[in-house]
Amino acid sequence: MQKLVVTGGKPLRGELSVQGSKNSALPIMAASLMCGGECRLHRCPKLTDIYAASRILNFVGCRCTFSGNSAAVDSRSIDRTEIPEELMREMRSSIIFMGAMLGTAGECTVSVPGGCELGPRPIDMHLTALKRMGVDISELSGRIVCRIPSGRAHGAKISLAFPSVGATENIILCAVTADGETVINNAAREPEICDLCGFLRACGARITGDGESRIVVKGKAKLHGCEYTIMPDRIAAATYLSMTAAAGGEIILTNACVPETEPFLSVLEQTGCSIYTGENKIYLHSGVRLRAVRERIRTMPHPGFPTDAQAVLMAALAAADGTSIFEENIFDCRYRHTDALIKMGADIQVLGKVAIVKGVRRLHGANVEATDLRGGAAMAVAALAAEGTTQITKISHIDRGYEKIEEAVSALGGDIRRA
Ligand code: EPZ
Repeated sequence: MQKLVVTGGKPLRGELSVQGSKNSALPIMAASLMCGGECRLHRCPKLTDIYAASRILNFVGCRCTFSGNSAAVDSRSIDRTEIPEELMREMRSSIIFMGAMLGTAGECTVSVPGGCELGPRPIDMHLTALKRMGVDISELSGRIVCRIPSGRAHGAKISLAFPSVGATENIILCAVTADGETVINNAAREPEICDLCGFLRACGARITGDGESRIVVKGKAKLHGCEYTIMPDRIAAATYLSMTAAAGGEIILTNACVPETEPFLSVLEQTGCSIYTGENKIYLHSGVRLRAVRERIRTMPHPGFPTDAQAVLMAALAAADGTSIFEENIFDCRYRHTDALIKMGADIQVLGKVAIVKGVRRLHGANVEATDLRGGAAMAVAALAAEGTTQITKISHIDRGYEKIEEAVSALGGDIRRA
C-alpha cells in the first residue's frame, strides 16, 4: 500500500495552477450520458473518483476516453440501465447517475452509494423528490429499482428540507428532460451546482436561478453534445493555501475561482496571512506564526464556510497562537482526522459538533492513517508544518480528490514523496 512521507519545516514558495473541480466534474460526467451525442470536457482532474465515474459510463454503454485533462463521452450507444453494486460503492457521486439515467432512459437500478464516511449519508431527499416527479421507486434485495411508468418524468414543485447538493443535482438532471416545469425551493447554491447547470445549458437545457435558492427547470425532450471547461476546484485551492499558511512561504494560485473561494479566504485572512486576489489568481504570504481565528468557524451550505475545508484549516490552526473553535453543521462525523492531529501533538477537544483547537507551539511528525479525503489532506497540511517526518498511509482517500498531490507540493519546495 502506498504512503506519503512528509518532512516538515520547509516553507512553500511558487505558483500552482488549480486542478479542475472534482465535485463539478463528477455530476457533469453523469449528465453527459443524457446528451445522445459527444461531450468534450476540459480541465477534468485525473482522480480515482473520476475514473470510477468513467467506469460507470462505460458500463452503461457510453464510450468515455481521456486525453490529458480532457475527457470525451459519447453517449449514443447506451444499452444498460443497471449500475452494479461494486461500481455504486466506489463513491458517493454514483447516486447522481440515478437522475441522469431516469432523464435519459426512464428507468434505472442502482444501490446505496459509497464515499467518505462522514456519518450517516441518507438519500431520502433524492428519492422523495424523484417520486414527486412521477418516478416509482422500490427496493429489491438491497437494490433501488426506479421506473417512470410513462417513460418521461413530469415537472413538479419541490421544497427541500435542507439544501442538499446531491439531491439538487439529481432533481435538475431528471427535470431537464421532464415534461413541464420543475421548481426547486431551498436548492443548494454551491458553485458546483452552477457549473453543472452551465454544462447542461451548453447541451440545450433550460435552467434559471442556479446559484440562488430557487431553481427553475423547463423540461425539453432532447439535449445535444457540447464542449465544456470544468471550473477550478475551490477545495483543492483551500488545501494548498492552508499548507502554505501552516508551513510559511508564499504561493500564487493561478486558474483559481476567486469569488467561489471567498467564504474560505475571509476566514483564512483572520490568521494574519496576507491574501490578495486578482482575476483567477490568489496570492498568499505567510510569515510569522498564525493567529487563532476569533470567531467560531461554522460550516454552512454555500455561501457559508465550506465543510470540505474544515479539516485543512483546522490542521493549519493546530499550531496557531491561541484557541480556535469549529462547529461542524453539515455532517455528523467529520472530525475523524482529529485523532491523527492529536498524535502529531495538537491539542484538540471534540464535543459533539464542536471542536476546540488550542494552538500548540509546534506539531511533530508521526505515523498516521488517512481517515477520509479531506481528513487525509489535513494530515498533509499538519505534516508540512511539523518538526520531523510524518508517514501518511491509506492515501487512496487523498487520491480521490487531489491530482498528484506530492508533485504539486514538491514543485513548491515541500519535502514530500510517495513511497
Ligand atoms: C456534496 O456531498 C459533496 N460531494 C461533498 O464533498 C460536500 O461535503 C457536500 O456536498 C456538502 O457541501 C460531492 O459533490 C461529490 P449533501 P453530498 O447532500 O451531495 C444530508 C468532498 O470532500 N442529507 O449536501 O453528499 C447529508 O447526510 C465531499 O469532496 C440527507 O439527510 O452532500 C448531510 O448531512 C465530501 N438526506 C447533508 O444533508 C439526503 O437525501 C449535506 O449533504 C441528502 C443529504
